[in-house]
Amino acid sequence: MTSQPDVVVIGAGAAGLMCALTAGYAGRRVLVLDHANKAGKKILMSGGGRCNFTNLATEPANFFSANPHFAISALKRYRPEHFVELVERHGVDYVEKAPGQLFCADSAKALLNVLLTECQWAGVDIRLKTVVEGIEPAGEGMRLVTSSGRIDTGAVVVATGGLSIPSMGASGFGYGIARQFGLEVTETRPALVPFTLTSQWKSRVADLAGVSCDVSVSCRNRCYHEPMLFTHRGLSGPAMLQISSVWMPGDELIINLLPGIDAYQALTAARRQTPRRRLSGWLAEQLPKRLAQALIEWYGADGMLAERSNHALSEWAERLKAWRLKPAGTEGWRTAEVTMGGIDTRAISSRTFEVVSLPQLRFIGEVLDVTGELGGHNFQWAWASGVACGESF
Ligand code: FDA
Repeated sequence: MTSQPDVVVIGAGAAGLMCALTAGYAGRRVLVLDHANKAGKKILMSGGGRCNFTNLATEPANFFSANPHFAISALKRYRPEHFVELVERHGVDYVEKAPGQLFCADSAKALLNVLLTECQWAGVDIRLKTVVEGIEPAGEGMRLVTSSGRIDTGAVVVATGGLSIPSMGASGFGYGIARQFGLEVTETRPALVPFTLTSQWKSRVADLAGVSCDVSVSCRNRCYHEPMLFTHRGLSGPAMLQISSVWMPGDELIINLLPGIDAYQALTAARRQTPRRRLSGWLAEQLPKRLAQALIEWYGADGMLAERSNHALSEWAERLKAWRLKPAGTEGWRTAEVTMGGIDTRAISSRTFEVVSLPQLRFIGEVLDVTGELGGHNFQWAWASGVACGESF
């Protein structure tokens, strides 16, 4: 690009590329800058390399934000069906792995290629390995100082994402720019992240690494019914990732290992019908065998159901439906999928994503205080905010 760009997008991730191609098709000269050596690294690593690129049921209730109404407008205007249409137009095969959750059938590379191809068709220039050293207003536009020189432009879109996975290029850059221009940044913390356990539980649970079971987990008035996975470090799987978004240090998790079953009734019925049955045998029918064995080891004596009093069965029922566990912490930014919190959206237009007091500066995607639940909602937010911003140029 030889002439001055109308728009500079900082960050060649999901939101940045989507915004760039939309503005490009609207006839704007768009330059995308990224400090990484490759565009869309998180797209490539997401969903186990197959990218859960949207969720057909996405709605504003799937997002956390101090300003919950902010996301409504963009999410309404750019729906999951719109992104699916783009993916289908490029012939990318996809599968619905869980209800509403769409993943690439083969590799997320195909999806990144869609975005890069569209950027090329829309005339977008992408410059990688470029560090932005400073941004300042210049007349009606903005001036950037970068590692490859000074750039004057009509507007800057900051799409630099959150803090998770620093090794993939994540940085606090967007928050720094927001603060530079007087915007508030709400407290940030790792979310959609596995839990670590205290030494007592860690050694107990370590033998269960790889075991997975369906649970419902509750904390702070939220409850998720999804699979839980035991790992060498603690607890993971969709149920734990989801609840990590509301968990605060010191909170207890209440894990129902038999969701949808009245454990006490089931135990007393089993005692009536098969009194000579061992408790361990009954547990192994309801839960993965290794977990059933571990529960017997942790909580003591096995034996025939007939030998269990109502009180003893009620104690077991309580353990199964409300296993109370206080995690030591989370695995942190190293493995978190997203950042909870971010730039306070009250200073930003929900229609154009411009800073109300400085319209030539905009923020989109994960850098904002809008955080989705697990299941493709975060990418849908990246697409929707990118399109809303790109269309308004
Ligand atoms: P994103 O992080 O994608 O892009 C930001 C870009 O800015 C990067 O290219 C980065 O290099 C660049 N950048 C950062 N600082 C910069 C600087 N100072 N100068 C220049 N460039 C800079 N979501 C989902 O919906 N489905 C899923 O399956 C998954 N799976 C998943 C797995 C893992 C392991 C992670 C870490 C995350 C997910 N996510 C997810 C979340 C999803 O990846 C995330 O919400 C989006 O990528 C956010 O898109 P953004 O474009 O806002 O940021």
